[in-house]
This record gives sequence, C-alpha cells and structure tokens, in this order.
Amino acid sequence: GAFRLARAESLIAAVSDHPTPGVVFRDLTPLFADAEAFSVVVDAIAEPFAGRFDVVAGLEARGFLLAGAVAARTGTGVLPIRKAGKLPRETVAESYDLEYGRATIEAHRDDLPPGVRVLLLDDVLATGGTLAAALRIGERLEWDVVGCGVVLELDALAGRDALDSRVVSVFHV
Ligand code: PRP
Ligand code: HPA
Repeated sequence: GAFRLARAESLIAAVSDHPTPGVVFRDLTPLFADAEAFSVVVDAIAEPFAGRFDVVAGLEARGFLLAGAVAARTGTGVLPIRKAGKLPRETVAESYDLEYGRATIEAHRDDLPPGVRVLLLDDVLATGGTLAAALRIGERLEWDVVGCGVVLELDALAGRDALDSRVVSVFHV
C-alpha cells in the first residue's frame, strides 16, 4: 500500500541541468528497474480506470514501458504512439512544443476501430504538450479516450491545464 508507493517514489532521481541548464530532470529509470516499485506503480496507474479501457496507448519512449506492462496485467491490447517517421503504414500525426524543443508524434490510422476505449500512458507529465498531441490524434481517429495516466506530474508546469481529459498521476513534484 502506502509504504510500497512511498518507497517507489523515493527511487525517482532528480538530475540538475539535464538536458539543458536550468532543467531539473526527473529520472524514473531506478523506479522502473526495481521489481516491487514497478509493480506497485503499474497497479496504481491502472486502478482508477479499471474495466473501462480496451487498449493502452503508450507515448514513445518511456510510456511504452508502462503501456505494455499495464496491458499485460489488465488483459488489454497495447498501441505505440511513436515519434514521426517510425511507423510503416498510414498515420495521423500531431506536432507539439516540449519543455525543451519541438516534436511530432503519430499513430497508425487503422490499428484501432472508431469508438475503442483507450487509456493514454506516459512516464512524466511536464508541459502536457505530448499528451495533448496524443489526445488530438485520438480525437481525429475517433477513439474514446477514457483518460491519461502518468507516473509523475511536474505540478509547476501546469500540464494538466493543457489536457481536456481526466488525468491521474501516481506522484507529484
Ligand atoms: C518526455 C516524457 C514525456 C514528455 C513529457 O519524453 O517521457 O513523454 O517528455 O513532457 P511534456 O508534458 O512537456 O510534453 P521525451 O519527449 O523527452 O521523449 P523520450 O521518452 O523519447 O525520451
Ligand atoms: N523527466 C522526464 N521527462 C521529462 C521531464 C523530466 O523532468 N521533463 C519533460 N519530460
């Protein structure tokens, strides 16, 4: 319960001046690498949406780790939302501003049918640009997005204000 979650949170590293000066980068690799911490976080991120999604869509790259694990645990499918140029068939793409830089993500047009219930997952919610772009992709493809889940929300960047969707964060900083 609470102790296992607190222990998982303690495994998140803060790295000053990465990838650029002035940014405090939150690195979740130690949490993901710990079996018990990863397991408790995978459960915590899925629980609020239990029984209400058919597919988990993960945001490249670190969202993939969560999406596959949540999908396997909940008996649902998994879908990669990728950085531009990686998916081989016809896609829908959306561009967005990142805390540092600009990027485009895309999903295959026909991997999922219209009306499919999708849970969007990523490791960190910063400015919200990435998940907002994923929501626009979902809207264009007529997905029923049931919400967004992240392990860590960076509250100072107010990313949830950019998201027209239910957002659940396991941890906040
Ligand atoms: C990071 C992070 C989220 C996103 C959060 O990924 O994993 O996907 O940024 O920032 P935002 O809320 O401001 O959009 P990044 O784009 O660095 O890609 P990577 O996972 O491929 O390294
Ligand atoms: N950590 C991980 N991903 C991120 C961060 C961060 O601090 N900021 C934007 N994306």
